Amino acid sequence: MAKRIPQDFIDELMNRVDIVEVIDTRVPLKKAGREYQACCPFHNEKTPSFTVSPAKQFYHCFGCGAHGTALGFLMEYEHLSFPEAVEALAHTVGLEVPRQDDGRGPRPAKQGEDLYALMGRCDEFYRQQLRQHPAAGRAVDYLKARGVSGEIAAEYGMGFAPPGWDNLLGAITAGEAPAEALRERLITAGMVIRKDEKRCYDRFRERIMFPIRDRRGRTIAFGGRIIDEGEPKYLNSPETPIFHKGRELYGLYEATRALRKIERLLVVEGYMDVVALAQFGVRYAVATLGTATTREHLTRLFRLTPEVVFCFDGDRAGRDAAWRALQNALPVMQEGFEIRFLFLPEGEDPDSYIRHEGREAFETAVGEARPLSEYFFDHLQAGLDMDSLEGRGRLVKLARPLLQQLPEGVFRQMMVDRLARLSGTAAAGLLTGAGSRPQTRPEGRAPGARRAASHAGPAPGAGPRTPVRAAIQALLARPELAARAGDPARFAHLDIAGVPLLVSLLETLQGNPELSPGALLERYRDDPHARHLSRLLEAATPLGEAELEADFLGSLGWLENEELKRLQERLLARGEHQLTPALLKLCKPVDSLSSEEKAALKQLFNEQAG
Ligand code: GTP
Ligand code: MN
Repeated sequence: MAKRIPQDFIDELMNRVDIVEVIDTRVPLKKAGREYQACCPFHNEKTPSFTVSPAKQFYHCFGCGAHGTALGFLMEYEHLSFPEAVEALAHTVGLEVPRQDDGRGPRPAKQGEDLYALMGRCDEFYRQQLRQHPAAGRAVDYLKARGVSGEIAAEYGMGFAPPGWDNLLGAITAGEAPAEALRERLITAGMVIRKDEKRCYDRFRERIMFPIRDRRGRTIAFGGRIIDEGEPKYLNSPETPIFHKGRELYGLYEATRALRKIERLLVVEGYMDVVALAQFGVRYAVATLGTATTREHLTRLFRLTPEVVFCFDGDRAGRDAAWRALQNALPVMQEGFEIRFLFLPEGEDPDSYIRHEGREAFETAVGEARPLSEYFFDHLQAGLDMDSLEGRGRLVKLARPLLQQLPEGVFRQMMVDRLARLSGTAAAGLLTGAGSRPQTRPEGRAPGARRAASHAGPAPGAGPRTPVRAAIQALLARPELAARAGDPARFAHLDIAGVPLLVSLLETLQGNPELSPGALLERYRDDPHARHLSRLLEAATPLGEAELEADFLGSLGWLENEELKRLQERLLARGEHQLTPALLKLCKPVDSLSSEEKAALKQLFNEQAG
């Protein structure tokens, strides 16, 4: 007879998993208000009607009516039976599925459930102590002296662990039998430390307590600050079955609760930084828990917002932490995501900075934080002699393994291009190290080579996501973007895979602005490009409107630069005796050309043609 999975295990499992995470790893979700959206994986659609509610732990598709829990989703999506889905889900949260006729063995599931409830009770205890304990006055005074209001303290659930060795232990186990079992669980929860066979004591004593809450608002750990001076300044919960430092961020739950739309998230270093910023109305700060920012942290943050700003102290430790954060960020840098770095003046942290300078100055500084791309190259170039071949070679050597970690796409391509310009090498082959065949042909080709170009290079539908593919995918999702492209003919001479298709799409759409994506595809039904189009459509990740637009404009900008480079190559091909200083100025790296110089460069060849 099949063994039954106990209901309370299912309850516990559902309690532990987050439906947003379960679905997001399979169908990338985008935040939309308090919910998440995607194009429904169970029917075909181009605008997302598939909605996941973290509050309800439920998904629903307004298009096809599919709906259910995280478990139901797994069954549908991965075609699993109920026990298989339970097994798969349990595995992701580190639980083992018990079977009813296994006898009454140990039940890890039950233990997990109790840990949340238990942490909730600890949390309640500390908050009550802050209000009532005779020794709490010092803590209250300290918080006041640091400018923390009662409101903010309440919002972040701040509490007080009184002096003494067993306040928490006594309060939690009072009147509960068996006390020994409960003590064991307090130890598992990291709240109590075993001294010897018989004795245990509270981990947190005479400290201001900061509860660390998970995405669903449940307290899963604590940070405790000493009042005034002393060592260690902060004490943190250890890793427990429900708390993993590398995954959680202090203040994230509070930020999602305070803000309807999260335009950006700010990553700071300290608990007090988060609280002080909130006090000044900056509600989008979160802190890592005394560890480096992990990839998992970033994945979490980017699920909520397209922009993450790291804010580090202006000292040596801060700069090291920033570079570590950058390294961990590279693998998650998709198009549409933005990471920037804010370095505070030496001796300041966000808490002190906002107190000295005020909210406006702080937010201005955040707004002006340096983009990852800039920080990346500045950091690597520091100390290198970029005028020498050796220095430029060294830059390539340092940058290459890092850029290789970037996912394929527009952003990576732009970074590679920048490296090529800085080092004076060709972009093609820079990352693979397999020689450096230039991407565009060096000598000016005869005009009219467009036809030949349409058969050159790999098919646009297959392979990595290049800027051209990204632009086509954006157009397929939002045909109206074509209107923003300007005259597509200016790209027609570029010998880059997919450009002929892109130009043709732009021309079609600009001539017929009312075409829906479906109608557009119909137009290409008998076109040799049809196959590429549907493949690009299938490969497209669901992106929000703003991301599609950013993708599209970013890709066009890239093409624009490629076109300018092509013109420069044609100019240089005229030979030295023809190049006046004024013309030579037009051959600077494309990024450093002014808009007048760009126009002049184009003008030069327009006149020739005309
Ligand atoms: P204060 O403003 O002094 O209250 O602290 P802060 O919030 O500015 O924190 P700080 O920049 O000193 O440290 C940043 C983070 O590192 C803290 O929030 C803690 O997570 C962690 N941390 C700091 N000091 C200690 C310590 O003594 N032990 C441990 N384990 N972690 C610490
Ligand atoms: Mn501080």
